[in-house]
Amino acid sequence: MWLPNRSRTAVSQARPISGHTALLGVLGDPVRHSLSPAMHNAALAELGLDWIYLALPAAPAELTGVVQGLEAMGCRGLSVTIPHKQAVAALCRELTPLAERIGAVNTLIPLAEGGWRGTNTDAEGFCAPLRAAGDDAWQGTTAVVLGCGGSARAVVAGLVDLGCGSIQVAGRDPERLATFVADCAAWAPQLQPLTWGAAKPDLEQALSEAALVVNTTPVGMRSTSDATAAERCPLSPAQLDRLTPGSTVYDLIYTPRPTRLLQEASARGCRSQDGLEMLVQQGAAALRLWSGRDDVPVATMRQALLEQLP
Ligand SMILES: NC(=O)c1ccc[n+]([C@@H]2O[C@H](COP(=O)([O-])OP(=O)(O)OC[C@H]3O[C@@H](n4cnc5c(N)ncnc54)[C@H](OP(=O)(O)O)[C@@H]3O)[C@@H](O)[C@H]2O)c1
Repeated sequence: MWLPNRSRTAVSQARPISGHTALLGVLGDPVRHSLSPAMHNAALAELGLDWIYLALPAAPAELTGVVQGLEAMGCRGLSVTIPHKQAVAALCRELTPLAERIGAVNTLIPLAEGGWRGTNTDAEGFCAPLRAAGDDAWQGTTAVVLGCGGSARAVVAGLVDLGCGSIQVAGRDPERLATFVADCAAWAPQLQPLTWGAAKPDLEQALSEAALVVNTTPVGMRSTSDATAAERCPLSPAQLDRLTPGSTVYDLIYTPRPTRLLQEASARGCRSQDGLEMLVQQGAAALRLWSGRDDVPVATMRQALLEQLP
């Protein structure tokens, strides 16, 4: 029988829950809006695993108890989102070197001897669509990163891994920017701070030389509280005009698709990449770690997310 996509996914997710069904989930506060349950449950159904993935709200004051309780219950794995990505590191028995570099954990894997291993799959998710251009495609290139918050660290780790020769990170707060660059200096020596302000020509110059520009700010993201938020662009018209045709502009945002930044960049002859594939690929990387399986159904995860987006 033919079913439209939405119905097909709904049917494949209607699997029996028994006393043996194991638990996975995403910890956050708030977390009810998360798209991860739809993405992971579609994949678990296709893999034939008797596991279920839930949104698990945890207030910061409750985080320790929740993480310990989930371990005691035999939880098979956890995703971690805002605001717990830093705090949860202290609750891990082991951290991967990547999680230590990034200073944030987005995935918890249960250890056989008890406790959790914390890692971060955001850098791998970020790099995945860029690697499609070839393993050496970004070697020695110049990248500009807009914003120096939580996701920017994973982006910089990814850019280092891709072999970028110069990474300039633009931040609007000079102190936060200096701290960001100092924190990454040991493993990202090619990282330079870039002051971001109306009267500063540095960013325009950097944009004109960049093969890759990455937006890690939330500017341009659709907001339920601000109807005009999706109309915004992190770059001014003068800055947009400095983008080089043929360069790649990557926006971590995935609602709306495309963002205003990506529309403007495409109109200037740039290649564009939004954040949906990063979301899919960081989830696929986490599911590989939890399940030990390489045949994670990435296309099903992508489709499940697309069905959730407006
Ligand atoms: N696709 C994915 O899988 C994925 C993964 C992670 C994040 N994201 C998206 O990435 C975005 C950022 O997330 P995050 O966790 O990194 O947030 P964050 O930690 O709050 O960092 C945001 C950064 O953007 C800067 N910023 C905010 N508003 C700005 C403005 N009007 N002008 C200039 N800079 C501004 C902030 O500067 P200040 O410090 O000065 O405020 C900060 O440096 C969000 O839209 C999120 O949804 C997507």
